[in-house]
Amino acid sequence: MDCKVFVYYPKRPVSHKIRVDLYFSKGDRMTSVPWYHKTTIYQIYPRSFYDSNGDGMGDLNGIIQKLDYIHHLGFETIWTSPFFASPQADLGYDISDYTSIAPEYGTMDDVSYLIEEVHRRGMRIVFDLVMNHTSVEHAWFKESRSSRHNPKADWYIWKDPSPSPFRRRSRGEVPNNWQSMTGGSGWHYAAERGQYFWSTFLPFQPDLNYHNPEVKRAMLDMVRFWLERGVDGFRLDIFNYIYKDQQFRNNPFSFKLLPADESSAAFFQQSKYTTNQPETFKFAREFRSVCDEFGERLSIGEVYGDRKIIREFLGIERNDGLTLVFDFGMLNFQFTSDHFRNLIQRMEQAYPPPFMPVYVFSYHDRRRSIHRLAGDTRKAKLLHMFQLTVRGVPCMYYGEEIGMTNVRLPFANAYDPIPHKFKSLPRLIFDALDITINRDEVRTPMQWDSTKNAGFSSAEKTWLPVHENYHVINVETEAREEFSLLNRVRTLLAVRQSESALQEGSLRVIENLPENILGFARKMDGVKISVLLNFDGRQKNFQSSKGDLIFALTPGSQKIDGMITLDGYGGLILKHAD
Ligand code: GLC
Repeated sequence: MDCKVFVYYPKRPVSHKIRVDLYFSKGDRMTSVPWYHKTTIYQIYPRSFYDSNGDGMGDLNGIIQKLDYIHHLGFETIWTSPFFASPQADLGYDISDYTSIAPEYGTMDDVSYLIEEVHRRGMRIVFDLVMNHTSVEHAWFKESRSSRHNPKADWYIWKDPSPSPFRRRSRGEVPNNWQSMTGGSGWHYAAERGQYFWSTFLPFQPDLNYHNPEVKRAMLDMVRFWLERGVDGFRLDIFNYIYKDQQFRNNPFSFKLLPADESSAAFFQQSKYTTNQPETFKFAREFRSVCDEFGERLSIGEVYGDRKIIREFLGIERNDGLTLVFDFGMLNFQFTSDHFRNLIQRMEQAYPPPFMPVYVFSYHDRRRSIHRLAGDTRKAKLLHMFQLTVRGVPCMYYGEEIGMTNVRLPFANAYDPIPHKFKSLPRLIFDALDITINRDEVRTPMQWDSTKNAGFSSAEKTWLPVHENYHVINVETEAREEFSLLNRVRTLLAVRQSESALQEGSLRVIENLPENILGFARKMDGVKISVLLNFDGRQKNFQSSKGDLIFALTPGSQKIDGMITLDGYGGLILKHAD
């Protein structure tokens, strides 16, 4: 019997000096894999992670207090949603000062301490950078808006009204047909200038004018400001919207009404002149070179559109643009082996070395992944096993590791501005379309234990309610059970850290497996790791060749005398010399 179930692997220390590992993938060329292509990312929504001062809201000190949790869980890089000065009209994605900290989260000293404490544990941290727009409260916008002639007059996208056919309308018509990302015209009138300004997202988030070199310089200086303070990189908010057509040409018509991840057409128009402009691809390279001044830094773009197009934000032949991009098409998955096999094939085709795909199934704008699995934790374990073993950088949203669920909340008192925009429409429309319009529902407090407020805060009232299932779904309870989702994620991360082939090895799909089983092999330096995943609820038995068992997702999944048994939704990892 060759059954060795993985229990614990000691962690490898990670040096945060520049580290480039050279390796030969057996028999072929030499490749170098920078840290940001083999890391694992954990996303924190600071307002909901841990409240250290009892005001009902998470804060920077709270993150620091929970760093050991993330470290022991095994994630190597943390991405924090914004905590910069902001009126919080879009919960921090509307920044009024890029180099100060919103007081409810803490101080600049707290940020320095956070960076230091992350590094002390051999981990890394990336900040969320909202470069496309500021808040209307930013001093630059206030100045820009005040008149047509001021030093910042051209820092935002201003345009004269189009003449109105209705004489009564003094502000004329909007300058062109461009639609915002959230629907409706993104042009907003400012009486002070008698002009319209452009907002890609919401009216209080005016877009900066990157055609103005001063703006670009100021923003890249801000990037340097944070790099100098030791941040390991950035997640780049709606990066593909940064440049807009300088001639303001009308966008062409499209039949598409609803936004989708793999297309940037929506609301009956293509976004030909508002997204993915040639200048933005060039800017990706400029951004990268600023990061490169500080060594290897991660840059991960929130970008939308056709995979072939967004992939080019990384560079054409070489990875000289952003280091990674999200490919959100994968969020709408079907839970079948065929679906995930196709996904791997599409990703391998689009992101072959020297590029690296990112595997993401949930983040702060979208439904939690377990929602798509009808709340079935067994399926969630398999999904996470896939995410943590496939060739790519896994990015996990806080709470996914314990199976946190969406909380249904009324639109009327939402903190998220989006539901207010659509309040005249009945909710059942969004339910029927299976769309989360109120993003508060996926941003509720982290469920740490079964005490008051799930151990998130000592306040009487937390900023958003804690899900009532916290008595069952919480870190403390799950930590006690060997095969809980939490402990499966923890063990999988440990296996991944101990096996270089899982971090950076090549990938080949294994053919001729029984129905609804997905298998793939990761290879490196003469080591082969085979991953077998059963997308079926029924047990499967089949002969297998070589390999020692190093991880079993469920208690009954095993390999005995060359015979594999996979529980329903079970998974195994085998290791052998190649
Ligand atoms: C991105 C963020 C989202 C924010 C929007 C505007 O999509 O993920 O939370 O509201 O950009 O900045």
